[in-house]
Amino acid sequence: PAYSEPHRPQFHFTPPENWMNDPNGLVYHEGEYHLFYQYNPYGEQWGHMSWGHAVSDDMLHWEHLPVALEEENGIMIFSGSAVVDRQNTSGLGTADNPPMVAVYTGHYTDEDNPRQDQRIAYSLDNGRSWTKYTANPVIDEAMENFRDPKVIWHTETERWIMVVALPTRHKVRFYSSPNLLDWKLESEFGPAGATGGVWECPDLFELPVDGREGESRWVLQVDLNPGSVAGGSGGQYFVGSFDGKTFSRDEHARERTNWVDYGKDFYAVQSFSNMPDNRRVWLAWMNNWQYAGVIPVKPWRGAMTVPRELGLAMTEQGPRLYQQPVPELQQIYKERHQMEDIQLTAGEDVRHDQLRGTAFRMKMTVRMEDAKQFGVRVRKGESEETVIGYDVAQEQLFVDRKKSGEVKVHESFADTVQAAPLETDNQYITLDILVDHSSVEVFANEGRRLITNRIFPRAASDRIELFSRGGTVHIDTLTFWPLKSVWN
Ligand code: FRU
Repeated sequence: PAYSEPHRPQFHFTPPENWMNDPNGLVYHEGEYHLFYQYNPYGEQWGHMSWGHAVSDDMLHWEHLPVALEEENGIMIFSGSAVVDRQNTSGLGTADNPPMVAVYTGHYTDEDNPRQDQRIAYSLDNGRSWTKYTANPVIDEAMENFRDPKVIWHTETERWIMVVALPTRHKVRFYSSPNLLDWKLESEFGPAGATGGVWECPDLFELPVDGREGESRWVLQVDLNPGSVAGGSGGQYFVGSFDGKTFSRDEHARERTNWVDYGKDFYAVQSFSNMPDNRRVWLAWMNNWQYAGVIPVKPWRGAMTVPRELGLAMTEQGPRLYQQPVPELQQIYKERHQMEDIQLTAGEDVRHDQLRGTAFRMKMTVRMEDAKQFGVRVRKGESEETVIGYDVAQEQLFVDRKKSGEVKVHESFADTVQAAPLETDNQYITLDILVDHSSVEVFANEGRRLITNRIFPRAASDRIELFSRGGTVHIDTLTFWPLKSVWN
């Protein structure tokens, strides 16, 4: 059967074959979610960048469609976004049949100089066929590094806004447009936050704080490669206001970098546009440029994370992002095992017959009592394991993949343990863990802290083990759901 190769994710998106990197053009339209992605139709390494395409009605079960936008005349189709031009502001469709418009970076070489500009293409048949705009590019600043346009509709000013990266200057730019065709430069933001690598793939959206519509803030997400918190590629975000021209960071948010995920494999995240019910959901490329080209998978290379629902929660440092797996995930639960009041004593490893698997979700409410460390070993076999744990003294959540299976992938694959600051709440932490054939995603304290890592264990490594160190731990509840494959 399809999708049964070693390490093939069972509930994460992967292309049938060939290279994939960033998610592009995430948009909802007429009951369908569209996922486009950076794709090489001709091989397992980066090259000939085009937009691959898939559709879904739940962001989990995907139907593969033909390549949507292909490299042409030496112009590659780099990352970008898509919108539904509902009022036909562009005139590329009709009032009755509004166009879907893709906004992407054209990348080409001009007399040995790399060039990047912003271009558009449109579809009048729900993304099944695409026409590149004849007057492309729509923005050309004669720059070498100028990429990854994310376009949103700004309701207050009734204009389109594009946020686009100036990677080597550690800046983003904001352009505005009445019609997606004519763009005006409004402002720049940066350098700010982390600048240890190039800035790429920005995103911009407004979210209510603690769910209260009246109190909202704007989130500007910017990727960084290399120089991220876990080494190599990753994402950071800024919280502030946006008036249709300028993004201003909140004063109290200025001290330290806000990382979107503390793992090694969460890059180029993008949120869906035009999503119903005011939901804000994003997903990322589950990889790191340090070793993306050498991960041990075939005949495809590259996977997406699970789609995550976003919110802002007020904290002492100001509003901060949280992320949770989308509720749609419940559709692939096979069964449910619930356990209560598990007491762990130091040094004793606890296994349970029902806790076993290679694709599952596991949620726990844990009281640390007097333990120094608590943890769970997943994808455990005779000689391998991935450890997810909490360290009380360091107030840290961690994922250790040093012995997770095939780790000699690259020198930077297993040289460190991924860690994130995490405070207990009256001794309590919560862990929500998603494990698939080649990944671990940890959502701690209701999605306040995240660690996303690829792992390459053996198929037979399906054990789960709970442990505590230096004292006792009490697990109030533990819920375990084996997950169905979305491909069969
Ligand atoms: C990010 C990125 C983007 C670029 C694309 C090219 O991973 O480098 O900046 O548009 O990949 O494939």
